[in-house]
Amino acid sequence: MSEKRPDGVTVFLTGLSGAGKSTITDALVAQLEAEGRPVTVLDGDVVRTHLSSELSFSKADRDLNIRRIGWVAGEVVKHGGIAVVAAIAPYEAAREEARKLVEEHGRFVLVHLSTPLEVCEGRDVKGLYAKARAGEIPVFTGVSDPYEPPARAELVIDTAGTPLAESVSLIRAEIG
Ligand code: ADX
Repeated sequence: MSEKRPDGVTVFLTGLSGAGKSTITDALVAQLEAEGRPVTVLDGDVVRTHLSSELSFSKADRDLNIRRIGWVAGEVVKHGGIAVVAAIAPYEAAREEARKLVEEHGRFVLVHLSTPLEVCEGRDVKGLYAKARAGEIPVFTGVSDPYEPPARAELVIDTAGTPLAESVSLIRAEIG
C-alpha cells in the first residue's frame, strides 16, 4: 500500500516592519509544532544573517532575497513540509515569483498584514522608524521606500484591529 505524501504549503507573511509578521509567525509555529507538525521558518531578519548576509536593501537585493526565500520554501513544500515566511517583501513582482516557485510543488498562501504605517511606526519595536525619520537610515520601507500592497492575497489582516489568536485562526483556516 502506498502512502500519500502530505500536501506541502507555504504561508508567506508580507507587510511593513512592525506589522506583526514575527509575532504571528511565532504563535502559528508554536501551534503547529504542538500538533506535531514541523515547520521551516524563513524570517527576513534571520535569512539576512545567514542565506542573504551580503545583501543590501536596494530593490535588486530585496528581489534576490525574496527569490532565494521562494526557492527554499519551494524545496520544503516539495517534500510535503510547511514553510512560514516572514519578510517585508515590498515588491509585487518578487512576491509573485516566489509564488510561482512554490506553486510548482504545492500551495502558496499569501497573507498581507495591512497594519497601517502609523500603527507600525507607533509600535517601533526595533526603533528603526525613529532612525529612518532622523535620516539615520536613508531608505526605509514605508518612510522613504515603497511598499506595493499585494493585488491578490489569500488573506488580508490588519493587526491593529485583529487579536493575535484570531489572526492565527484565520491562517489556520486557510492551511488546514
Ligand atoms: S525584504 O525587503 O528583503 O523582504 P526583510 O524582511 O528581509 O526585507 O528584512 C527586513 C528587516 O531588515 C526589517 O525587519 C528591519 O529590521 C531590517 N531593516 C534594516 N534596514 C532596513 C531598510 N532600509 N528597510 C527595511 N527594513 C530594514
